[in-house]
Amino acid sequence: MPLALNINGHNYTVEAEAETPLLWVLRDELKLTGTKYGCGIAQCGACTVQLDGQAVRSCQTPIGAIGTAKVTTIEGLEGTHPLQQAWVKHDVPQCGYCQSGQLMSAAALLGAKPKPSDEDIDAAMTGNICRCGTYQRIRAAIKDASGQSTPVQAAPVQAASVPAA
Ligand code: FES
Ligand code: FES
Repeated sequence: MPLALNINGHNYTVEAEAETPLLWVLRDELKLTGTKYGCGIAQCGACTVQLDGQAVRSCQTPIGAIGTAKVTTIEGLEGTHPLQQAWVKHDVPQCGYCQSGQLMSAAALLGAKPKPSDEDIDAAMTGNICRCGTYQRIRAAIKDASGQSTPVQAAPVQAASVPAA
């Protein structure tokens, strides 16, 4: 059945059953493939988007439950969000798979708390799993984007090889 959705400021009408997860409408119908599938059971955070500024797991959000709420996906940050700039500065991603979900959770956090404490960051980001272990860089980038500057960590210097005596 036709359902109206507002995504990244644009109005769409999609043909899908009300129980269809938002994730599949984004990826398969609208080709907004920045939102990733990880676990499908709201346990990893890869599929995180925002509904009216709140981070939600799109794999467990039926489109029939969205109503007039405004959906924002990673494409809606347009590459210009201060967090995205901090992500680049701190060289956060490794494989990158989890990162759109990480950014959407972090953006929701800064929307609610412009200067989050470490505890706020832990609480907001705890459900976003990163198998590459980028957590320290994510924290640094969130702090930086919120004006709580964190120096960029220098890459480790390779020890010069010393010829054997
Ligand atoms: S794919 Fe939705 S939380 Fe893992
Ligand atoms: S950067 Fe690889 S899973 Fe997070």
